[in-house]
Amino acid sequence: MQVLRTANELRRWSRSARVAGGATIGLVPTMGALHAGHASLMRAARAACTHVAVSLFVNPTQFGINEDFTRYPRAFEADCALAEAEGADVLFAPAVEELYPNGTNSTFVEVPGLSERLDGASRPGHFRGVTTVVTKLFAVAEPDRAYFGQKDAAQVAVLRRMIADLNLATEIVACPIVRDADGLALSSRNAYLTKADRTHALILSRTIRHVEFIVKEGERRASMLLAVARAALAVEPEVRVDYIALVDWATLEPVDMAVPGTLFAVAALVGDTRLIDNTVLS
Ligand code: PAJ
Repeated sequence: MQVLRTANELRRWSRSARVAGGATIGLVPTMGALHAGHASLMRAARAACTHVAVSLFVNPTQFGINEDFTRYPRAFEADCALAEAEGADVLFAPAVEELYPNGTNSTFVEVPGLSERLDGASRPGHFRGVTTVVTKLFAVAEPDRAYFGQKDAAQVAVLRRMIADLNLATEIVACPIVRDADGLALSSRNAYLTKADRTHALILSRTIRHVEFIVKEGERRASMLLAVARAALAVEPEVRVDYIALVDWATLEPVDMAVPGTLFAVAALVGDTRLIDNTVLS
């Protein structure tokens, strides 16, 4: 596995992969501190693409002023080992100045209508940073497919709309949420949790399973499902709910009735750590 530091190197790698013809280039964008969730995306890319690039870039423009950009976990050596073990051909790990040579951008990509919903409501500007950096990565790597986790379901919706709106050639592949044995969705930010926080955080996945159960039992009304979820989360007073939402996964607009494909999503603060989790109802 090659480690590439500049956009030109990645572009050259991608273009030379195509020279022989028949190449399918897969990109797995990440912010590092890699775990089994990231590994599952790499595995999906490896299975479907002839060439796999993993990007590792803690993107400053998607963090709010008081958020955790400076203390976001960084583990370069371990990340290299994981990406290599999962069969990545290249790891693109640019410095901030490489992707933002002017400190920041004059040009931003935004998806109004979606980007202020769910996480975008409590993290203003977050999705603008995500769509901008993903556009840069697509412009440089020119991937056929890009792999994202359903864990960040709103991110997937915003990126899919961006691709449709801008007629981009990259297909988004959404991969299932990878969880710890106790149900907690894997996240780089789980490293912030104390032992007690971690126990409290389990209420998120429990609530999700409970909502899935009552949907299976026949309840479809959003008002009922949200009330049940709110009550379930209230069992753990250490967990402060940011949002509980039942939305259409494509538009992120609230629905009155759950149908197959409806997204049930929660976000909450556990201690100082913001966690998200969701399920796509069947
Ligand atoms: P990051 O949080 O590092 O996540 C990278 C990718 O891994 C995302 O697509 C995310 O949904 C996926 N992922 C995280 N936890 C997962 C889990 N438990 N199961 C399955 N997939 C999981 O998301 C970002 O970085 C950034 O916003 C990025 C897209 C890289 C743009 O900067």
